[in-house]
Amino acid sequence: MTANPRSIGSIRHLSDCYNIADFRELAKRRLPYPVFHYIDGAADDEVTYARNTAAFESVDLVPDVLAGAEDVDTSTTIMGRKSALPLMMSPTALQRIFHWQGERATAAVAEKFGIWFGISSLSTVSIEEVGERWSGPKMLQFYYHRDKALNTALVERAKAASFDAIALTVDTIVSGNRERCKRSGFTTPPRITPRNLLSYAAHPAWALNFLFREKFDLPNLSTHVAAGTGKAVSIQDYFNSMLDPGLNWKAAERLRNDWGGTFCLKGIMSVADARRAADMGADAIMVSNHGGRQLDGSRAPFDQLDEIVQAVGDRVEVICDGGIRRGTHVLKALATGAKAASGGRMYLYALAAAGEAGVERAMGIMQDEIRRAMQLMGRKSISELSRNDLRTR
Ligand code: FNR
Repeated sequence: MTANPRSIGSIRHLSDCYNIADFRELAKRRLPYPVFHYIDGAADDEVTYARNTAAFESVDLVPDVLAGAEDVDTSTTIMGRKSALPLMMSPTALQRIFHWQGERATAAVAEKFGIWFGISSLSTVSIEEVGERWSGPKMLQFYYHRDKALNTALVERAKAASFDAIALTVDTIVSGNRERCKRSGFTTPPRITPRNLLSYAAHPAWALNFLFREKFDLPNLSTHVAAGTGKAVSIQDYFNSMLDPGLNWKAAERLRNDWGGTFCLKGIMSVADARRAADMGADAIMVSNHGGRQLDGSRAPFDQLDEIVQAVGDRVEVICDGGIRRGTHVLKALATGAKAASGGRMYLYALAAAGEAGVERAMGIMQDEIRRAMQLMGRKSISELSRNDLRTR
């Protein structure tokens, strides 16, 4: 995602941000570069990352006018829970590194907007705190670890904290090749090296908050693993040493049974896998390539959506995850048959730029864009969107 060519003047304050690209600019300005590039970067040549958003341009919306669309209902039901928008906040790791408010800001905004959010297995606020403080629909993103006692503990903690769903991430059995992180030396917790020292020194607000507020922790893991508790490790090393590359359908099914609640598979891309997910009784699948951070050269979620919806849309809820930067992207996913769209960077740039106020502004913009696009399409409710609203270029 490059700088927004339509921006007039530089973006220095939250009030200068009118779209997701603007929040990205502000985040870039306010973060030490290793942290910014961890959020912004992806795998290898980042071809898939770029395609994730570009894919939405391969179809056009065809509006119907004179529809009397003054009142628009953007609400829907996702995985059995009411959602005020057809948009979810995808689980993302390490949020207190991006801004000291971290997952607390994300959860608070999700609750304010009445939408789903997820916390990562690698979240920096605990499952217990999130369960206790925020009542809205929430999922625990599940990394399947080699340490089976850790897997069991995560399930039990999600149950005790009354999480609404578990999403097992299936696209990350080993780490993608994130070259920006290799170059910047990004680790968790961030380690200041002679090479990146200047960047940390040049962002004193970030550095002071990171050093003097609540100590960095990965509370969902720290009872079982040393990572995050003191020793700095790269995410690549963490994934490659801690996650179980032997993860298979049997293990996924066992996890679903142990959990016993609403279950989602995050990272399904092929029709064959979507069918297996439906056969095993998953409630939802997130068609996703992890925001382009894993297998570069793989297809975009939106490009795969149509064939997956055709194959299993009547048996399992299909969520389009990745590349969402505009309300019209959400409408295109829904018109193709997705139950909802979901995104990470759309709120992460804003979190990094300005904490809770930033996330609130970003999600407010997305809400306005969805509502306005529905009005301009002449659609009063989500159920009125259909494949007939789209034409392929
Ligand atoms: C992620 N994502 C992710 N996914 C997951 O299953 N577990 C995780 O811990 C994380 N962590 C994470 C960190 C950061 C910085 C990013 C940008 C992404 C992937 C995330 O859930 C989602 O699939 C992508 O963000 C979707 O792509 P967009 O919306 O960022 O384009």
